[in-house]
Amino acid sequence: MPETVSTAGVSGPHDAEITAALGTRSVVLVGMMGAGKSTIGRRLSARLRLPFLDADIEIETAAAMSIPEIFEAHGEPHFRDGEARVIARLLDHGPAVIATGGGAFMREETRNRIRLQAVSIWLKADADIIMRRVKRRVDRPLLHTADPAATVGRLIEEREPVYRHADLTIWSRDVPHEKIVEECIDALHARLCAGGTAAAAQETTETPGTLDATR
Ligand code: S3P
Repeated sequence: MPETVSTAGVSGPHDAEITAALGTRSVVLVGMMGAGKSTIGRRLSARLRLPFLDADIEIETAAAMSIPEIFEAHGEPHFRDGEARVIARLLDHGPAVIATGGGAFMREETRNRIRLQAVSIWLKADADIIMRRVKRRVDRPLLHTADPAATVGRLIEEREPVYRHADLTIWSRDVPHEKIVEECIDALHARLCAGGTAAAAQETTETPGTLDATR
């Protein structure tokens, strides 16, 4: 079920323009666990006045099981197949802001669908921030290892070259959430609206927290 968040008092000059330019395309957030995809996604959806969909929650609803239960009962490959199906369905019902699980973008078929039906944002986060955030929760089966920090390091190494294929990159760091949301809005506007292409964005240099238009 799509979630909605109160938008009272929150809006910016570009919000409606971005939503219009998206048409039926969604905004898809990708990146590591703990990067803030759900937190930022929920706020971004409120700004754009679009439904917010959390792919992990949609998978749990479809399976009537929690993610740890799916991993435990059926294994990761089964979870990944279900994840790909759910994301394909969500993309077919855009526009929305969709937060994906950290492994979803690793599947080529899902990346292709996202490229065609959405604008993707990689929320890039450092290992220490990820570790600090994921420590608060125990519901990530991939981190049920003897050395979760080493596992996060390995996943970052494997995944970052693939996350890099997202349309936009925003540095997720310890600043107020609204700042990250604002950076997402600016990056979306530069890509979708300013001049109609990414041309305006190409002048932006890659610095933490800004659009990387070179990808
Ligand atoms: C996973 C991330 C989780 C969830 C599952 C697997 C991953 O989602 O999909 O535990 O492979 O990184 P979040 O990124 O929302 O934590």
